[in-house]
Amino acid sequence: MLETKPPLSGSAASPSLAAREGEGTGTRPLSGASNPAMFSLQEVHSFYGDSHILHGISLDLPQGQAVGLLGRNGMGKTTLIRTLMGYVPARSGRVFADGRDVTNSAPEHMARLGIGYVPEGRGVFPNLSVRENLLMSARAGLDGSRGWTYERVLETFPRLKERLSNGGDQLSGGEQQMVSIGRALMTNPRLMILDEATEGLAPLVVAEIWRVIAQIRETGISTLIVDRDYKKVLAHTDKAVVMEKGRLALQAESADLQQQPENLSALLGV
Ligand SMILES: Nc1ncnc2c1ncn2[C@@H]1O[C@H](COP(=O)(O)OP(=O)(O)OP(=O)(O)O)[C@@H](O)[C@H]1O
Ligand SMILES: [Mg+2]
Repeated sequence: MLETKPPLSGSAASPSLAAREGEGTGTRPLSGASNPAMFSLQEVHSFYGDSHILHGISLDLPQGQAVGLLGRNGMGKTTLIRTLMGYVPARSGRVFADGRDVTNSAPEHMARLGIGYVPEGRGVFPNLSVRENLLMSARAGLDGSRGWTYERVLETFPRLKERLSNGGDQLSGGEQQMVSIGRALMTNPRLMILDEATEGLAPLVVAEIWRVIAQIRETGISTLIVDRDYKKVLAHTDKAVVMEKGRLALQAESADLQQQPENLSALLGV
């Protein structure tokens, strides 16, 4: 499961703040950049067994940017995320953090480099209480920040206050999703990855999740958002990429994509 190990002393504890200098400067190519993206994939290929899933993915995730990841079912969105996180090996290509090669690092290492991951299907521990699910992942961010505390997560999701001693398996889908997001926030990440966070939830809960996603973005945390509601994704991101059979078929500013729905509908089948 995710992020269950305590932080190792030493190894990943040398926060490079170089990426912060790039704040607000937008996307830059990694090659030769004095100002590398916070996280970056370069020409990444991934497989499940013999199935070639990612075909040369290159994507920058700069500090402070919200990026939407769109594409029909089975196009490789989750695989891209799982390769970035180190759950799926990159058979070729590189993954960088602050310009340093971290290809095929363990997921725990990627989490410690500042990625809060809300996986498809949530991944809440059923046998732990809400309180335990949240507290187990508490730690300072890479830059020492402790802005996201247990209390702040409960203020963000007041509904969880009434469920603190309930087991993960006694929660509604919406509550599980709140725990999953809350747990990722408690790692004080600099990038939040949300893979289908609103999937299968009631409209009111969906609205609440989007409200929190907007709040997360306002605090300066970068986001990588996968969601079926492409209009919401475009409204909550700076740029968006569309995947087609393991390749990035389109990359553009989200605001521009909102103006050209015909391009999107061909790729998304909407
Ligand atoms: N564990 C696995 N073993 C083998 N093949 C897999 C595995 N997970 C996914 N795949 C295949 O890899 C391809 C990409 O799947 P992936 O889950 O990355 O797509 P996705 O864009 O996230 O789709 P969805 O919108 O349905 O979540 C699909 O063809 C899928 O069937
Ligand atoms: Mg998926």
